[in-house]
Amino acid sequence: MRLQRIIAGALIFASANTLATEGMWLPYMLTDREQEMKEMGMMISAEEIYSINNGSLKDAIVSFGGFCTGEIISDQGLVLTNHHCGYGAIQSHSTVEHNYLEDGYWAKERAGELANPDLFVRFVKYIEDVSVQILEGVNDEMSDQERAEKIEENKKKLIEARRAENDYQYEIKEIYYGNQFIIVASVSYNDVRLVGAPPSSIGKYGADTDNWVWPRHTGDFSMFRIYADATNQPAEYSEENVPFKPYRSLEISLSGTQPGDFTFVYGFPGRTEEYLPAIAVDQMINELNPMKIEIREMILDVTKQYMLSDPQTKIQYSSKYASTANAWKKWIGQVEGVNRTHGIDSIKAAETVFKQKADAEYVEALDQLYALYTEGIEIFKQRDRFIEIAYSGNEAMRFMWGIRDWIQSGDEEGADQIAQRLEGFYKNYNPSVDSAVAIQTFDFWMQDANTNTPEFLEDAFEDGVMMDAYYPNDFFLRPNQKERVMELLEEDPEELAEEIQESEIYELMMGAFNHYINDVLPELRRIQTQIDQQQSVFMRGQMMIGDPKEIYPDANSTLRITYGKVEGFEPEDGITYNTHTYLDGVVAKYVPGDYEFDLPNRVLELFEAKEYGRYAAENGKLPVCFIASNHTSGGNSGSPVLNGNGQLIGLNFDRVWEGTMSDVYFDPSICRNIMVDIRYVLWVTDVYAGAGHLIEEMNITE
Ligand code: ARG
Ligand code: GLU
Repeated sequence: MRLQRIIAGALIFASANTLATEGMWLPYMLTDREQEMKEMGMMISAEEIYSINNGSLKDAIVSFGGFCTGEIISDQGLVLTNHHCGYGAIQSHSTVEHNYLEDGYWAKERAGELANPDLFVRFVKYIEDVSVQILEGVNDEMSDQERAEKIEENKKKLIEARRAENDYQYEIKEIYYGNQFIIVASVSYNDVRLVGAPPSSIGKYGADTDNWVWPRHTGDFSMFRIYADATNQPAEYSEENVPFKPYRSLEISLSGTQPGDFTFVYGFPGRTEEYLPAIAVDQMINELNPMKIEIREMILDVTKQYMLSDPQTKIQYSSKYASTANAWKKWIGQVEGVNRTHGIDSIKAAETVFKQKADAEYVEALDQLYALYTEGIEIFKQRDRFIEIAYSGNEAMRFMWGIRDWIQSGDEEGADQIAQRLEGFYKNYNPSVDSAVAIQTFDFWMQDANTNTPEFLEDAFEDGVMMDAYYPNDFFLRPNQKERVMELLEEDPEELAEEIQESEIYELMMGAFNHYINDVLPELRRIQTQIDQQQSVFMRGQMMIGDPKEIYPDANSTLRITYGKVEGFEPEDGITYNTHTYLDGVVAKYVPGDYEFDLPNRVLELFEAKEYGRYAAENGKLPVCFIASNHTSGGNSGSPVLNGNGQLIGLNFDRVWEGTMSDVYFDPSICRNIMVDIRYVLWVTDVYAGAGHLIEEMNITE
């Protein structure tokens, strides 16, 4: 919620209408939203969405693995989420012979449901505002450290008290930059099995070309099942486990949506920053994003060349490629969106008004923020270069850093665990890709750092370490080296550790990480701590001049509700986007053999025959995707989209490119979320895949 909207809401209109559809509300805040939601078309009560005392829709929502959202769609623990959320799991069960990414997968019976050791789902039991308890005994006379200690002490006390009540997992999180606190009680289940997934040609149709783009034609869904022990309690994977009996499962509606219809989304958005000063948005849009975009472009170009020339590399890198491309493309959209809506200018204008209205303390905080960001920009760039190039952008370095303690000791005892880590690493690793990427990105680092080139980099270039032939000569990374490494690990772990330590890539890795730890981190922490303090005061100032009830807390991976309407938008003067897409559009984009737009023959046949079962829309066409003005973010993937009756009508999976800046600057004219229509999900499951047994588990109303 940008400052200018707070100002507009408080001073000019003082009407909820001006703010409609922006906002990610904590469940307990819904009582204040209920009237507006009803005016927009909601038929159920806030209490039916979230209740502390009774069962509510909340009981059907899960955090899927901590990075996505899922929902329960049968009384036998069936979970629906996105294909791209289940992607890692689907990939882990795929081989060149059984390629579930390519062909899809449908368990015909329970025994075929595939275990995923690292996957969990988490149900929220309740979320409560505990600011009073956490801030008890905190006062203005305290030093920052005293304050932090007191808060820590209160947190511990509270969690202990709650633990005595129930054996839930408890977490205390700050909201509004530490001005308030919430407690989240939850329960996790660790036996979550893959039940079904369409082929990528449906689940990832349009892949990266269409990612973040409307009009969209992706059937982005997959299905899992939660298993529990005989008493329905969480349990580690065991053959004895049985399908979990949920407290609530969602009712599914086949009636679809019309433009103007009310919808809401229930899920776990990860992180937004809606209350930053203009200078922070300016730096992100004009300095940091462009640099990160350039780095990722190199990584993507190189990786793609290798993927296109080798099927094995294509499987190994498909997931990594998709996630690198995902943020890259989002950042480009953010830059364009902020520029198009003149976001920075209007935040600045609002800050001028803020300075006239707010008390001196808050104005001072805003001024401080400007000084701190100006001081910090160089260190922010150094941080991002390190992260993008040496950490997220370099697989070998990231992996070696993760096992550095072992590498330094060569300990025999740890060898088993290292063997496992190595298996995981080599499974999806191609040193040719990694080294080709490194050569380009390190070169960029050298150029871009300009007068601030880190020493380790200069040394590496002087020593000629960054040459084409580099990785292929490295003991640890040489192509097809896995077997010899594993053998050596078994025979003589100390020797292996030594070999790795002596390799140049190890030296380069330590150089990069030590540079970050010694040259970047201390200064970064110093600035960031001060920014956090001032941002907390600035946030309070924003709440003081607005109506606090109208100001939602930034996303922080806690459960949120956001609501809006099915509505199109004008991406450009003279162009209007409709709200729905259909199978006709899927087929229109079809390019035989293409790596993004190929289609299974069966889809084409069913389209020709118009075999849509009971899933066609009123116009006789098969709906695929639709858009609405729900304010969502990363982490909302897989979130249920519900209608005014609280019935499941779709599955959130994306936002439109024009509006990806909604994480820092929501503009209702172009910010839209993208959902796959539940009728397409069911059609693919039922008619295309013939998995009618899953449909029978569900509670579907016509
Ligand atoms: N943009 C969506 C999200 O942020 C979908 C990403 C997965 N798809 C892809 N082609 N990378 O997660
Ligand atoms: N695809 C995103 C996710 O994985 C959701 C899109 C967004 O960022 O809104 O959560």
